[in-house]
Amino acid sequence: MQLLDGKFVSEKFKQQIAVEAAEAFHEIGRKPHLVAILVGHDGGSETYVASKMKNCEEVGFKSTLYRYETIITEAELLKKIEEINVDTTVDGLIVQLPLPGHISADKVSEKISHEKDVDGFHPVNLGRMQRNLPSFLPATPYGILLMLSEYGIETAGKHCVVVGRSNIVGSPMSILMARNANPGNCTVTVCHSRTPDIKKFTLDADILIVAIGKKNFITADMVKDGVVIIDVGMNRETSTKTKSGYKLYGDVDFENVAPKALWITPVPGGVGLMTIIGLLKNTLGSAKKEIYP
Ligand code: GUN
Repeated sequence: MQLLDGKFVSEKFKQQIAVEAAEAFHEIGRKPHLVAILVGHDGGSETYVASKMKNCEEVGFKSTLYRYETIITEAELLKKIEEINVDTTVDGLIVQLPLPGHISADKVSEKISHEKDVDGFHPVNLGRMQRNLPSFLPATPYGILLMLSEYGIETAGKHCVVVGRSNIVGSPMSILMARNANPGNCTVTVCHSRTPDIKKFTLDADILIVAIGKKNFITADMVKDGVVIIDVGMNRETSTKTKSGYKLYGDVDFENVAPKALWITPVPGGVGLMTIIGLLKNTLGSAKKEIYP
């Protein structure tokens, strides 16, 4: 078993991004600029957004955070997005999910200009992704592709099983792994809450990508020897043993599954850090007008 080390790989990418951000500064006369909007006080979202902002500073980007209480109306939020869309000093705009029940994530995603949609959630970017055209890729799937590339993991012709079909991870991941690209060219199976006998599929997986949000969902009896496992789980539990008061668990029973795997991502220290890289690379690409010249 070998670890797909998100900490090591993400640090390497961050150094490269910092160099390119400095170059971009000379070309466009300002730092790449990411704006994030956070509504409410969801504990996970607070942590993730803080980390995104901190990472921007570390690579020499400008970052701005707009915070709103849960009572903000959908119309107010959409108006703020429109303002940012036309602000020529902003390269990327993300609205952290989940949103309160009275605000439609779909409406928000469609309101963000596809040219600033560094989360890659806008239908234009999703459509272009599916067609293998230049687009902003959703940050987590993008980070996973970078990780697979970095470790030279062969994907062509492999059976990739994706567990979970969320808009953020499972669905775009399944499209990317099936694309005629590298990484890609897999035969892809998507399993979800209505799949009977998920084990039947996971047992046949050469590459298993799990994004279902359930601690220890994948157990040792569900995988074959030599599998490559990407664990996207971010399950937070309160803990008295950590400084933050939380401990993070993946969707995979790491202790028992890892001995059977050829490659596996740890949690924490795996995919989460690569998600940030996906976001930073999209923001840099936007500042340099690489996707939409
Ligand atoms: N919530 C969980 N993952 C993400 C992400 O990649 N982007 C946004 N905006 N919200 C999220």
